[in-house]
Amino acid sequence: MNKKFLDLGYQPLANRYLKSYKKLSVKKNELYKLTVGFNTKTKLVSLIKRIPDKKMFDSSYPYKSSMSKTMVNSFKKLSIKIKKKFNPKRFLEIGSNDGALIKNFDKNKVVSVEPCSNLAKITKKKGYQTYDNYWNLSLAKKIKKKFNSVDVIYSANTLTHINDLDDVFKSINHVLAKNGVLIIEDPSFLECIKKTSYDQFYNEHIYVFSALAVKNIIKKYKLELFNIETLNTHGGSLRYYIKRTKNTIIRVNSSVNRQLSKEIKFGLNNFATYKQFSKQVLLSKEKLLNILKKIKDNNNKIIGYGATAKASTVLNYCNIDSDIIDYFVDTTPDKINRYMPGKNIKILPYNKKLMNKDTFIFLGAWNFKKEIFKKERAFIRKGGKFITHIPKPKII
Ligand code: TYD
Repeated sequence: MNKKFLDLGYQPLANRYLKSYKKLSVKKNELYKLTVGFNTKTKLVSLIKRIPDKKMFDSSYPYKSSMSKTMVNSFKKLSIKIKKKFNPKRFLEIGSNDGALIKNFDKNKVVSVEPCSNLAKITKKKGYQTYDNYWNLSLAKKIKKKFNSVDVIYSANTLTHINDLDDVFKSINHVLAKNGVLIIEDPSFLECIKKTSYDQFYNEHIYVFSALAVKNIIKKYKLELFNIETLNTHGGSLRYYIKRTKNTIIRVNSSVNRQLSKEIKFGLNNFATYKQFSKQVLLSKEKLLNILKKIKDNNNKIIGYGATAKASTVLNYCNIDSDIIDYFVDTTPDKINRYMPGKNIKILPYNKKLMNKDTFIFLGAWNFKKEIFKKERAFIRKGGKFITHIPKPKII
């Protein structure tokens, strides 16, 4: 049973950056109620109301993995590890984005799947076999027919975007070799709750996984976890290594029970923990608004740094508009000169000159805090101030 624990109000599609400001309406299906529930049986956290995939992932999807040094480095390290540990003859990536990971692999060993045609075009052009399709059973059958089975399947920050998880795992089961390995990587719900990062929820993020939920979901497909790694990416993620239960060549290591125990100890199998989280979210909103109001009362300017989907959730949940944040800056060409989803806040191209010490910077891309703080050393040294809402709203 899916029990509701969080209501983030009406939200626009998070990755839809409009060219000109327009007030969105609930009636015209431009704003959707964002509520989150907890499945008491599987322990899976998911959005209660879902939006059709086709509305979210199309040729205008702006996110590119290669834009971030952190992600590029993380993928490079991972590719070395995969080759060393599993040496796949056939490697499949579900949600290959602009090829930040597959570029580290031999072209003739890779099959990639990417439904956003603007992104699929990039990897196709580089010579990678790319299907610009949604991941589903009919595509899995096509791949199986052409390439037989796949030794390693990898998917980062993608499966949590697909509504029909049953079809996702059936399709994986269809192409995965007998002794094959599935690796999935997604934000960790434990980290989300510890950091009160309610902004991990937006319409595209249908699920936020915990190891408890993953373990329960995959059992049905005769799959099991054999290794879990913790990562700093996307605000704290888990990388799950999965094998067929029948595969006795690969041993289950202690990291699996370690993570499960941590989650149980924190109370992730109890609904009460989730109710408590929703109280923290409300407090976080009040505190952030207080901080922003004080800055504005002192006639200071606030600009946003990193026009993330996460920031879109924060702006719309806290009702923050251009009277509070003048504009956002971002380095993504597809976002520049557009507007933050649902808000009259323009996104300007990143320019160091915009960062002066009388301006407060709201850290929209808080998941890249380390990378950004390194880049903005001079601004910080001059006394420049950032505002963050993670793990608690404060000025740093
Ligand atoms: P992302 O991490 O994908 O967050 P979400 O999934 O919530 O959208 O987005 C990071 C954004 O931050 C992306 O638009 C690029 C931007 N960014 C900068 O503008 N400058 C930077 O130095 C970094 C690291 C990111």
